[in-house]
Amino acid sequence: MNVLVVGGGAREHAICDAICRSKHADLFVVMSNRNPGIASLATDFLQEKETRVGAVVEYAKKHAIELAIVGPEAPLEVGLVNAFHEAGIQASSPTKEAARIETDKEWMRNLLKKYNIPGQLQFESFTTSKKAKVFIEKLNGDVAIKPIGLTGGKGVWVGGDHFKGIDGALEYISQVIDKKIGGHAKVLIEEKAVGEEFTLQAFSDGTSILPLHAVQDHKRLLPGDKGPNTGGMGSYSCADGLLPFLSKSEYEEGAAILQKIVEALKKEGCPYIGPIYGQFMLTADGPKIIEINARFGDPEAMNVLPLLEVDFVELCQAMIDGTLSQKKIKLKKKSTLCKYVVPEGYGVKSVAGKPVFVDEQAIQQAGSILFYASVNKENTTIYTTTSRSLAVVGIADTLLEADEQCEDALRNVKGDHIFIRHDIGTPELIEKRIQHMNELRGML
Ligand code: AMP
Ligand code: GLY
Repeated sequence: MNVLVVGGGAREHAICDAICRSKHADLFVVMSNRNPGIASLATDFLQEKETRVGAVVEYAKKHAIELAIVGPEAPLEVGLVNAFHEAGIQASSPTKEAARIETDKEWMRNLLKKYNIPGQLQFESFTTSKKAKVFIEKLNGDVAIKPIGLTGGKGVWVGGDHFKGIDGALEYISQVIDKKIGGHAKVLIEEKAVGEEFTLQAFSDGTSILPLHAVQDHKRLLPGDKGPNTGGMGSYSCADGLLPFLSKSEYEEGAAILQKIVEALKKEGCPYIGPIYGQFMLTADGPKIIEINARFGDPEAMNVLPLLEVDFVELCQAMIDGTLSQKKIKLKKKSTLCKYVVPEGYGVKSVAGKPVFVDEQAIQQAGSILFYASVNKENTTIYTTTSRSLAVVGIADTLLEADEQCEDALRNVKGDHIFIRHDIGTPELIEKRIQHMNELRGML
């Protein structure tokens, strides 16, 4: 079967890797950069902007694509999956109507409210900072300020972290409205949830879901969770599918929320086909919904996809056929630790176009997996862009071993202008998270 993947990041490299492990697939790719890892796996690829719907569909038709998988959110928002359907190509990714769950944060919050889904936060949207003031005052400035549309994970500002007090909040609100950050002259304000974040990804066939291992991402740029939000600097998961601070019943609460969202989308007339991503804050009062994404997470895809022991293409087909409930998910009982290598200045002002030297063989010998992201290969040299460069994933029985393996592998990535958050998944940081949750639970 000819399978098309759209996207050229590390998440898509992990998707391509899962496809190539299937006995069914011949891989074709459309990506805006020339990801060397993907290029070496693909039968053929086109370097093209992923949101150029016409060009992507034309390429798919030319190569008799039978199944398409869209990695990033931007092509979902412009209706690439709808265009595939019109061309008679099946896709295990959501239509633009179903993807609104990610691309319109206000619509998402209203959907949760309409269907009385657990894990909600207080919210309101505003078109002027004057009107927003009353709501912020009511919440004592403990709010998260969000552009309505997509901002690549970098548009959310949280009280106490990114701004101080009510004046700080109003200043950012004016910016979002005046500059139409996220595409609208409007802002969403949410109650700030306090706790530890976790990600739960699941496959959905529009009716039922199959959830994967929980993952913890690290959005902040700097060690100790300091600095601006990024697309994600690294992530870990544990062999038992839970997290050191997350119990089985809390995991199940998260999965039940995703199931209810899938049911709500079906009732709204836009059944959700594809991987669905829940970002939760585990609070003293249980999991609260921070955001829902219409795709795999990046980096979280790299934690779960390498663990799949069932045929990924068969799962994609089952999502399309509505037969997921007849499938069982089998994941290796291993812990994973993913650390991103990013260009110096990433998250503020990236230093792009610098060479990175990667010893692929040594990384493999260390037992780790290398996923290339936003880099370009010219002749034999790999150059950074302004986005994340590559990720290394350690996979072992325990988190500690996965960390050692990941760090061993990272010694084989060299460059004068790169940055890595080495503290992700270390015992010190994990202990801090457990303590944090214990303190919050003690407050109940
Ligand atoms: P998002 O792009 O919606 O994932 O937001 C980026 C980050 O901002 C999240 O990963 C959280 O760390 C934080 N955040 C977003 N919304 C909230 C909220 N309501 N309360 C607390 N933190 C939040
Ligand atoms: N890891 C965050 C995201 O994929 O949106």
